Amino acid sequence: MFLPDLLKGKKILITGGGTGLGKSMGKRLVELGAELVICGRRQAVLEETAWELMAAAPGPVSWQVCDIRDPAAVEAMVEKIWAEGPLDALVNNAAGNFIARSETLSPRAVDAVLGIVLHGSAYCTLACGKRWLAEGRKANVLSIVTTYAWTGSPYVVPSAMAKAGVLAMTRSLAVEWGPHGVRLNAIAPGPFPTPGAWERLVPRPELAKEFETRNPLGRAGEHDELANLAAFLLSDRSGFITGEVVTIDGGDWIKGAGQFSFLDRLSTADWEAMRPKKS
Ligand code: HXC
Ligand code: NAP
Repeated sequence: MFLPDLLKGKKILITGGGTGLGKSMGKRLVELGAELVICGRRQAVLEETAWELMAAAPGPVSWQVCDIRDPAAVEAMVEKIWAEGPLDALVNNAAGNFIARSETLSPRAVDAVLGIVLHGSAYCTLACGKRWLAEGRKANVLSIVTTYAWTGSPYVVPSAMAKAGVLAMTRSLAVEWGPHGVRLNAIAPGPFPTPGAWERLVPRPELAKEFETRNPLGRAGEHDELANLAAFLLSDRSGFITGEVVTIDGGDWIKGAGQFSFLDRLSTADWEAMRPKKS
């Protein structure tokens, strides 16, 4: 699909790159020639992923243990990365989430999600952005949100608030930093099974099945599909796209919004029976 050197010469940081979609995106970016840095809170996970990715593709992969909720830790990580050479792109992928009835949420539970998704993404973006602007470097930020960033969603309210904020940051900074050559875009995935998300969001098999198959295409997303979209948005081939959010959800959210989507349960016989009879 892409030239094998699409991302050659680009150094990219993926937050939460040790697991799930971050790891899958990382694999694809390295295959396409990028130099990769991944971060997360668990050293063993990062180390294992880095070795796995380096065994599969030729590019260098390094890791930084960093809790992105802590602005000083983010600044120290970014400073360390820059000491070895500047980043060209940041992928805000790290997240925290769980389902809960909102009236049961404690302040700490709200903060746990907002701290990772909203504050962490902002700290990483600002730490990189101020360096890019000072250096006059063309650069790229890609944030992984989801479709409830604009629809909202019950039972994941802190996450919906945080993703909406990340999308607002994406659009705002696309305008503010565009003149400096910094692009910011977002991807809004539908269901892409990962252990991290599935154990917290759809912990029972029947819930998982419904979540994965209720979209018009009737299946879950494949990690490669999202990774290829990320590669395109991080490449210079998408150079005129900024402030955009690309949905990759098999039509899930638009089906939820359509007032007559519920008619998909009708059979051919139902449709025939309802059709006005010719007199
Ligand atoms: C209610 C909960 C809870 C739950 C935690 N809390 N889980 N409350 N229901 N299921 C509360 C705790 O009781 C505590 O409040 C507070 O949240 C903080 O919990 P900790 O365990 O101390 O937090 P921490 O160790 O910081 O962990 C953060 C976390 C955890 C978000 C709670 O799940 C985590 O580390 N997640 C990272 C990975 C992840 O979430 N991946 C899924 C991303 S999927 P009290 O008051 O009791 O002390 C995703 C998909 C989006 O984002 C879109 C899908 C379509
Ligand atoms: P995941 O595997 O649980 O990934 C979350 C990652 O974030 C983990 O590697 C975790 O590593 C890291 N992380 C969490 N808190 C952190 C912190 N404070 N500091 C640094 N890193 C932290 O889940 P996923 O499904 O791949 O999700 C990846 C992204 O896709 C998220 O933004 C999510 O909202 C989005 N998304 C996923 C889906 C889906 O269907 N899977 C759908 C829509 C959107 P540590 O725990 O080691 O820190």
